[in-house]
This record gives sequence, structure tokens and C-alpha cells, in this order.
Amino acid sequence: MFFIGIDIGTSAVKGIVMNETGEILRTVSRDYPLYLFGDGCSEQSPEDWWEMTACALRELTAEYKDIAAVSFSGQMHGLVALDGNGKVLRRAILWNDQRTVAECAYLNDTVGREVLLENAANIALTGFTLPKILWVKNNEPALFGQIKMVMLPKDYIAYRLTGVAATDYSDASGTLLLDVKKQDWSDKMLEIAGLERSQVPKLFKSYESVGTVTAVAAKETGLPETTKVIIGGGDQAVGAIGTGTVEEGTCSVSLGTSGVLFVAMDEFAVDTSPAAIHAFCHATGRYHMMGVTLAAAGSNKWWMGKVLKTDDYKKEEKEITALGQNKVYYLPYLSGERTPHNDPAARGAFVGMSMTTTRAEMTQAMLEGVAFSLRDVLTRIRALGKTVKTARIIGGGANSPLWCQIVADVLNVQVQKIHSGEGPALGAAILAMVGAGTFPTVEDACAKIIKTTETFTPSPQTAAAYDKHYAVFTGLYEALKDSFQKISAI
Ligand code: XUL
Repeated sequence: MFFIGIDIGTSAVKGIVMNETGEILRTVSRDYPLYLFGDGCSEQSPEDWWEMTACALRELTAEYKDIAAVSFSGQMHGLVALDGNGKVLRRAILWNDQRTVAECAYLNDTVGREVLLENAANIALTGFTLPKILWVKNNEPALFGQIKMVMLPKDYIAYRLTGVAATDYSDASGTLLLDVKKQDWSDKMLEIAGLERSQVPKLFKSYESVGTVTAVAAKETGLPETTKVIIGGGDQAVGAIGTGTVEEGTCSVSLGTSGVLFVAMDEFAVDTSPAAIHAFCHATGRYHMMGVTLAAAGSNKWWMGKVLKTDDYKKEEKEITALGQNKVYYLPYLSGERTPHNDPAARGAFVGMSMTTTRAEMTQAMLEGVAFSLRDVLTRIRALGKTVKTARIIGGGANSPLWCQIVADVLNVQVQKIHSGEGPALGAAILAMVGAGTFPTVEDACAKIIKTTETFTPSPQTAAAYDKHYAVFTGLYEALKDSFQKISAI
């Protein structure tokens, strides 16, 4: 018996096949286009997601036939709108799209942050789904009138496989339509969106089955019709499962395009500070908090590719010697910033260069700036009473031992790598196994499958030096934020 985990990412879909002992047997990846245009617009075609997922599944099922269950991790927040025949009405508006500044201002200031926190446990951020729904209502009213169902990216794939409109609590948390504490759609938030309950999918736990594969989908994917479709969750929650971040107070750090610091929690909690740490349901069935810095490995890719014009990241890092002594600073706000500033107008900056500043010092500043931004998140989560001593690290950036050490020193926590870098796809395959009954709980599955490998321990001297640099870093956004507004208004 085999299990498939599918991750619907922003640049590609990734699929893995796992056996009953949790060994990854095969990995495939298929790219699809990302449409970036206008002032911060970011869209993808749900049909592309489906075509490439079906293609990846065909490749996996050609070799592994006895698939017991499939589950998903998906880029969060994207708005997929369907008409009464289940047809996609427009390209999906994605998590990193920034067009909803006016809708967020309406939600936060006119509806009011208190109403949002009370009913959805979070305030409005440009990435979240509700502002996108309001944008469509305001700008494409005829299309809005045709919407019979809204769903999230991975839910569309489950829908194509089963014909069932379903979602899970972790992904639904990022819509701003879910009462996160009660784990149910919020009538108040649906009213604000102008939607009926019939227009949002049925809610499931991430490890629950929503059905089996239709005959048509079986033909397109090679999956047996008996395959259980387990709904899965948002990529952050499922990625956390892929690192074993499931018990109260455990933490994971993701150095993907965006950077995320994620803490699992048994009990619901909400952040009422302006930092707006996200309070979401975890894919375990309980809760988590997280903060997101929008350009983590994205900063690295920009700096190496667009500025230094190299793809030899290792060579650039080799020149970096002393940690904690760099006097150049970098603000990683290339795509605006979510946590803690919630400021779409924020932009990247290097500060502190002199005539002797080297290329290596600027590369180091870039890596450190992302780590400082993650420390901003950790500082807020600690202020909410959480103790974090270790963090498991995933994402492309985790392939750099130097960056892992910088994160350990800047956060002053032990950073652990795990046996597999598959993160979200691995988490999805684990959910498939739990859904199929191979393991009784997500926690049990993680305890048996996830192994830690390397540990990066903070050096007390470097951590103390970084404390001083962090104090400088936090002042820089404050000093520059008016200038960012002025730049965006020009
Ligand atoms: C999480 C978030 C991103 C996307 C894309 O809130 O916006 O992590 O899920 O990966």
C-alpha cells in the first residue's frame, strides 16, 4: 500500500509517494505559470494546477499502483471562484497579491479590528482571502454575482478528484471567514463578505476523508477509484507536520520564498497587538500561531540572481567569516511586509555601508536581515507567553549551513534539520496515512517518521552580539516607514 502527498506550491506542484513505514520512494515536480502584473497583482490558473497535478499523479501511479490515500498541502489564501456548474470564473488571486489595500483599510478601520479579532481571530492583511472577495465584489460585480462557491487552491484539486467542495480548518483560517476558536464558518464574516453558507465548502479536519476518486478523475490521474482523498491543509500547517512540529510549544522555521516562524499550541490564543501574529487552526486539529516575512529565500534569490548575477550561492557564502560583527543591515521588505509591520508599501534597504564594505558583508547582511525579521516574529510570540528553545528548519534556505547558524544565533535557539527537506509534501503524505488509518494520530505518525539530523547551537558570544544588532535593525523600519509611503505615492 502507498500514500501520496501533493503540495500545490506557487511555482510548481510537488508529489511524493511514501510506503507504510514512511519512506519516500519517489518525488516529482511540475511547474506552472505565475502571472505577475500591474501594481503587485499575482494570479494563477486553477486549470494549470489541475493539469500539472494530474500529470504528476500519472507519473507516480505509473510506478506505484496500490495507492490507499492521497492528501494535500496548498499555498494558502488564494481565491478560487466557481460558478453553478463548477467552472472556474477567473484566475485565482494569490496569497502574495497586494491589490487589496483599500479592502483591508475598509475591513480594519470601518468594520473594525475588534470585530475581526472577535469573529475571525485575525485582522485583515492583503494576502488573506476575504479582502480578495471584496475586491472582486467592488471591481468585477457581474462576476461576483455568478459565484456559487469560493475555495482555496488545494481544495480545487480535491474537488476535481472527488466532485466534493471541501476544505479544512487550517487553510480556512487564512480566509478571514472562519471563526478560528469555534472551528466553524463565522456568520458575521460571511455577512461582511456578502456570501451565504452554501457558497463556502464543507469543513473537515485535515486528516479526514472527503470521498474517493471519481471515474473521470481516475482516468486522468491513474489513481484507483478506491483511493481515499484526505483534505490536507494550508502549506504552513502541513509543512509543520512535515517537520514534526505538532506538540504544544514546538517551533518550526521555514526559509522558503517567504519566511515563516510557526509555533504549535494546544489552546486557542489571539494576538491583539498591531503585529497581527496569525492565530490559525493547526492541521493536527488544534491551533498554532505564526508570523510571515514575505521575502526570505526570495531575498537570497533576488540578491544572488538579479544583483550579483550568480547562481553559486556557496561561493558567495564562503567569503563570510565572522558572525555578529557586520555593521551593514538589510531590510528584507522586497514584497512589502506582513509580520510585524503589516505594510504593503515597505521596501528593501541596505543601510550602514562604508567605503570599505565588501560584497561578502552585503551578502551576510541579507542573510542576517531575514533572520532579524524572523526574530521580530519570535519576539511577539514570546510576548504572548510562549517559550521556544528549539526550532526545526525547512525550505530552500535550510540547505545553507551558514544561514541555519545565523538563524540559530539571531533567534538564540537551537536549530534542527530533519531527515527530509520535503516539508509540505511529506506532511501531506503523513496526513494521507493518518486518514487511511495507518497511524491513529498525526502526533503518532510524526513521532515514528520524522527524524532530526544536524543541530545548530547558538554561540553565547555571537547571540549577545546579535542582540545589539537586532536593536539597531528594529529602529530602521521605524526610521524609514514614512519614506516607504512617500516612495509608493510617487
Ligand atoms: C501563509 C502564506 C504563504 C502561502 C504560500 O500565510 O501566505 O506561506 O501559503 O506558500
